[in-house]
Amino acid sequence: ALRRAGNLHWQHIDVDRATRARSLGQAPRCVWFTGLSGSGKSTIANLVDRRLQAMGLHAFVLDGDNVRHGLNRDLGFTDEDRVENLRRVGEVARLMTDAGLIVLVSFISPFRAERRTARALFGEGEFLEVFVDTPMAVAEARDVKGLYAKARRGDLPNFTGIDSPYEAPEAAELVLDTTSAPAEELAERVVAMLLGRG
Ligand code: PPS
Repeated sequence: ALRRAGNLHWQHIDVDRATRARSLGQAPRCVWFTGLSGSGKSTIANLVDRRLQAMGLHAFVLDGDNVRHGLNRDLGFTDEDRVENLRRVGEVARLMTDAGLIVLVSFISPFRAERRTARALFGEGEFLEVFVDTPMAVAEARDVKGLYAKARRGDLPNFTGIDSPYEAPEAAELVLDTTSAPAEELAERVVAMLLGRG
């Protein structure tokens, strides 16, 4: 019943997305960071956000840990819940680009199919996938939140990379090797990509 839209009609809104973008003076984009837990997604997205802000641009970070405190507090980490998590986040990101923003989406987003579904919500060139490519061993050695240790002890089921899969991107717009450069430099590369693509 929840999926039925039979009595719904699309309401036309006069101010279109191009007009909203023009009044913000920027081209809306969805920058979609994907990578293992502890790969550095949030750190890099946060630095990119600060840089864009300093340049007078209008950005917003959607972060897994935060969105799961509110909008997606009803979801856990089964495959089904991750799919729904990413479906909602894709739709929210799309609304934010409709409003003219540059959205920085920072979720593990482990499944190729769901990243493809998110990409399909956006126009050509608007969705930019950034693979935060940190090897599992490195993320686990850092274990900033202690979650890998917990998962290894068997206290955290469905943990990405341990007993839940991570499907690495095959054609991301940008791949960041976090073992080769500091986060500041990687963030700079993301900003350069954004500027290079209008
Ligand atoms: S997903 O797969 O895209 O739906 O995940 P996401 O919404 O990004 O949430 C990931 C953060 O939740 C914490 N956490 C877990 N991650 C992976 N697997 C399990 N089972 C899990 N349980 C809790 C963890 O802090 C993730 O944050 P990051 O920043 O990625 O480390």
